[in-house]
Formats: sequence, C-alpha cells, structure tokens
Amino acid sequence: MNDHAKTFTPSDATVSRAHVDHARYAEMYARSVEDPEGFWAEEAKRLDWRRAPTRIKDVDFTHGSVSIKWFEDGTLNVAENCVDRHLATRAEQTAILWEPDDPEEPAQAITYRELHENVCRMANVLKDHGVGRGDRVVLYLPMIPEAAYAMLACARIGAIHSVVFAGFSPDALGQRINGCGAKVVITADEAPRGGRKTALKSNTDKALIHCDDRVKCLVVKRTGGQTTWTGQDVDLTAAMRDAATDCPAEEMGAEDPLFILYTSGSTGQPKGVVHTSGGYLVYAAMTHEITFDVHDGDIYWCTADVGWVTGHSYIVYGPLANGSTTLMFEGGPTWPDASRFWQVCEKHAVTQFYTAPTAIRALMGQGDAYVTGSDLSSLRILGTVGEPINPEAWAWYNDVVGQNRCPIVDTYWQTETGGHLITPLPGAHATKPGAAMQPFFGVRPVVLEPESGKEIDDTEASGVLAFADSWPGQMRTVWGDHERFENTYFQQYKGYYFSGDGCRRDADGDYWITGRVDDVINVSGHRMGTAEVESALVAHEKVAEAAVVGYPHDVKGQGIYCYVTLMTGVEASDELKKELQTWVRQEIGPIAKPDLIQWAPGLPKTRSGKIMRRILRKIAENDYGSLGDTSTLADPAVVDDLIENRQNKG
Ligand code: WTA
Repeated sequence: MNDHAKTFTPSDATVSRAHVDHARYAEMYARSVEDPEGFWAEEAKRLDWRRAPTRIKDVDFTHGSVSIKWFEDGTLNVAENCVDRHLATRAEQTAILWEPDDPEEPAQAITYRELHENVCRMANVLKDHGVGRGDRVVLYLPMIPEAAYAMLACARIGAIHSVVFAGFSPDALGQRINGCGAKVVITADEAPRGGRKTALKSNTDKALIHCDDRVKCLVVKRTGGQTTWTGQDVDLTAAMRDAATDCPAEEMGAEDPLFILYTSGSTGQPKGVVHTSGGYLVYAAMTHEITFDVHDGDIYWCTADVGWVTGHSYIVYGPLANGSTTLMFEGGPTWPDASRFWQVCEKHAVTQFYTAPTAIRALMGQGDAYVTGSDLSSLRILGTVGEPINPEAWAWYNDVVGQNRCPIVDTYWQTETGGHLITPLPGAHATKPGAAMQPFFGVRPVVLEPESGKEIDDTEASGVLAFADSWPGQMRTVWGDHERFENTYFQQYKGYYFSGDGCRRDADGDYWITGRVDDVINVSGHRMGTAEVESALVAHEKVAEAAVVGYPHDVKGQGIYCYVTLMTGVEASDELKKELQTWVRQEIGPIAKPDLIQWAPGLPKTRSGKIMRRILRKIAENDYGSLGDTSTLADPAVVDDLIENRQNKG
C-alpha cells in the first residue's frame, strides 16, 4: 500500500480557527509524555473541583498488581461540572437539542437551566426510592432527554449508572441488572425508532422475573402506550413533576466509580467496564473540545446511542462538561428515508457531525441525491468511530457530505479507553483515508510483535497495538473481577495495556488500525463477542456445538457467520436456520442475529479438542486457498466438507 497516495491537508481556515495547530500539537504532545504529572495537573483545571487534586498520577501496569489512579485526592461532582457550573453564564443556552424519531413531532431545546431542574427532580425521585452513594442503577431507555437526566441524576447523588442498550433482549438486560446488583431500573413504556416501537417496559418485566424482588422499576412515559404496571413500578414522569427542583450534589472522590458499561470480550460473558469520576471527565471533556474543535455557538451532533460508550463520552459527558449544545437523536439514518441525517443537519445547522462507518456505507449505497437535497453548509468537522473506515466510504463522506471542506477525524478508541486514543486533530494533522493518524495527548501507542511481544522500534511497523502508559480516561477495573481486568488487558504483553487490535505504522509514523486480533467482531459498529453468540446457539435444544466468526460484509463491516453442529437425529433445514436466527435475536438482541449459518457435521479441532478458529475464519472469508497448516487437526477431512458447503461464495 502506498501511504502517500492520498493525504489531505487542513485548509487555512480550519487551521486558524483550531484550538490546536501543528506546532502546538508537537509541543503539547512532547510535554504530555515527558511530564505527564505537570501536563495533567494543568488539564485538570478544565473542571471545577471541590478539592483540587495534588496527587496527579499513580499507575502500575504490572500484571498481578495493576492499579490505575488519577487525581486521587481530588473531589468533585460530575453533574455539577456538566450542569451547575454553566448556570452563571449559559442558563438560557440550549444544552440538549432533542430530535424525535418522527420528523413530524416537534424538536425540543432544553436549556442548561431546564437541564439542572430536570436532573435535580430525577435525583430526588431516586433518593425517594432509597438510591444513594455507590448504589447501582440500570438505565434501559430510548434516546430521549430523560436518558441524560438519569445519567446525571445518578452522578449527582453518587450512584453508579449502567446503561443497557435498548436493543438488548430481556435476558441480556436481566444479566446486567444482576451483574451489578442494581437497586433500580429506569426504563420507558416504549422506544420509538424508525417508525416502529420497542416495548421496553414489557422487556424489563421479563428481565425482572430473574432478578431480586426488591429491584424497583421507574418508568418514563414516552409514548403513553399500553403497558402493564405492577406494585413495584413507579411512574417516573409523574414523580418528577412532583419532585423538588433542587438537590444538593454529593462530593465524590476522583476515583469513585461514575459508571459501569458492559462490553463484549473474546471470552465468556460481557464484562462491566468501570470508569471513575475525575479522570474520565477530564479526558472526555478535553478530547471532545480538541478532536472536534468545538467552539461556543456550535451545534454538535453525535449519532451514537447512549447505550454505547460513544454516547456516554460524546453525547452526554464531554459536550456537557464543555457547556456545548449537544444534539440527541431518537431515530435512525434511513427513516422515513435516507435523507434524515442530512435534513436534521440542515434543520439545526449542525457544525460537527460524528457517526459510524456502517451508517456512511449504508447511506452511500442509497445515492447522492439524499444528501445533496439538504443544505450542509453549516458543517465544519466530520467524525467517524467504531471500526476501520474503508477508503471508498471515506471519499464519499469527504466529497459528498463534507463537500471537500470538512476535515474527517477518524477516532480510534474503545469502551475501555473512555475517550479518543488515536485520531487526527482538525487543525494539526493531515488526514489519510482509513488512518487514525496520531496519538492524543498523553497516549503512548506501541506496535508489538504478536508472538514475542517485542516492541518494534522502526517507524514502519506491523503488529498488535498496545499502550505503554496510562491516560486519565482509562478504565480502572472490571466490575467485581479485578483479576479478569488484569488477565484481559495486562497479561499477554507484560507492562502494556493491550488493545486487542492489530495495527500498522506507516513511514510517516501514522497509525492504521487493521481490526481485532481476538474473537471480538464488529457488526454495524456494535461490538460483539463470538463466544456470546456461541453460547446462545448451544442453549438451543437442537444444537450440539457451534463456532462463530466474523466475515467481511459490505454494509455491516463484519457479518456473523455461524458453524452449527446439530444434535444427532435432528434434521437440518432452512426453517431450522430461521428458527436459530430468531432464537439468537431473542437471547441477545437484534444486533446479534446470525447472517449466515452453515451446518457443520464436524468442526476442525486439534487433537486436544481446541477448535481451530483460524481455519473457520478463512472459510467464512471465502479465502480457503490459504488455510495454512492443517496437519495438527484430529480429522482433516472435516475441512473439505466445510469448504464444499461454505455459505459465503461471494
Ligand atoms: C474498533 C467504540 C478502527 C476497534 C468507541 C476497537 C476502530 C473497538 C475505530 C472498540 C477506528 C473503534 N478505526 N477501528 N476509528 N474505533 N474501533 O468498545 O476494533 O464499542 O477495539 O468502542 O472498535 O469498540 P467499542
């Protein structure tokens, strides 16, 4: 690949407006890695602390004693930083601009004053129901302002929220409620999306059957649709109306947990990623401001869902800590038609637009007319996140959406990292289609040889991506399982945080993320563990064994490919394939529905019984010419059958 093939340099206008230009980046980056304590002590001043931190950084990446602490002796309240402190200067400025699913329904502009009132009301309701410091609250909500109120209400009283994406099934919700021992679930009657409605309350009822009887359910009336109510349920909309409009904010330690967010790993069930208060907020605020070059008066829009980390850091916490106007959208990109995103951009004069490559590919496929019908002249910066972006989609985003005017920030990061780790900054870096480019301040990427774990010093390098030091937004632990945290991220490559991603550094020293090197797949920007899909499949009575891998998919990035061995005597049929697709959908949620199922009389295993996934991946990718060494297989013949009957012949 020729790295110099295409490089886009920022315009003079972009550079002169930017918070950080090239020279400033170089100077700040050098200081951030040479003197992290000094650098971050300075950056911490972005926040209003009750007690300013004096102990800045205390980090140990040694497997067996991993400990990550930032700003440890500082105290603050996250909600106070995202709301109260703006009241003196921005009370009447819009904090949240809410655009409902149905374009006919009016949008809402919630000012910082109203945000304060609503957060306090909800915090008081939570307190009335016995929620206090350290208690866990699960949120299972549509993309409505109440989702942000609920997150901030928890932060205000020191409770820890765990948002569960509204597309997850009752079982997945129940597991997450039990996983963190939540006292309360906040949900809504129904979630409208794409003209349809998901029955969130009835899903919650199903989930709660498997939870402690004392778990309370607080229900936002979003649609007023018919739902069943039990003795434990609380009409949150009514309770908020009756609640007091002020609620004191708790003084929290910088290292007190702010939230838990479950995410998929390469083994076992999803793990609860824990983020804490001070470091996370400093990092979310700083990255939001600098990566998107946000200024007063901007209308910033991130299309993610608050159920994912992107929604946490770049819809709620980062923008609100910065006193920005953040647009929150309840719908999706293609309803009522593929012009919706662009109509919303025009309607609200959006300045920064941040979305996922899968959405770009889907919209690109619908043709340019859906874009060119809207006035997009307000746009200044475009962003992407979630997976590597292919050059064709990048070019379309740049030409058709950005009209060659808007720098594209391809932001590489993870649930675990709290905020952007590698990304171009609009006024500081040129961009290359498909490259995440350069590390953010304080971030020290290294490329390791996968086998030996040796750091590759040459500028041009290819291997796995790890990080040599901590940054304030890094996760601190896995909820209830610190050992799993250490084993997942710090065991394989000693002394580093291991990302799970492959990466290439080009001759200019720019970083290209090449995708996961473990058993995590990225389906339409949703992160999924193949192990989760496998365990859902084998839970079906007709399934004896299953192996799941990703394969390249034009729109989704990766699709879900399942090899299934049926119980003896069960007949394979297309109906059964459909049944299994529906089954997985019900067990996990619509995002986990298998795309392709192949009946596998046997799976390729080593003599010790380990499934050789490398081979299964190759067959699913239709790249079976290069299967590599199959001599260690217990029964090499199964491979021929799998190739013969492969489902992806494209
Ligand atoms: C992938 C989403 C390439 C990567 C914020 C990572 C990316 C996983 C990019 C984390 C990008 C995210 N380029 N790959 N710009 N951004 N990824 O936890 O594989 O849902 O490990 O966090 O998405 O997904 P997660």
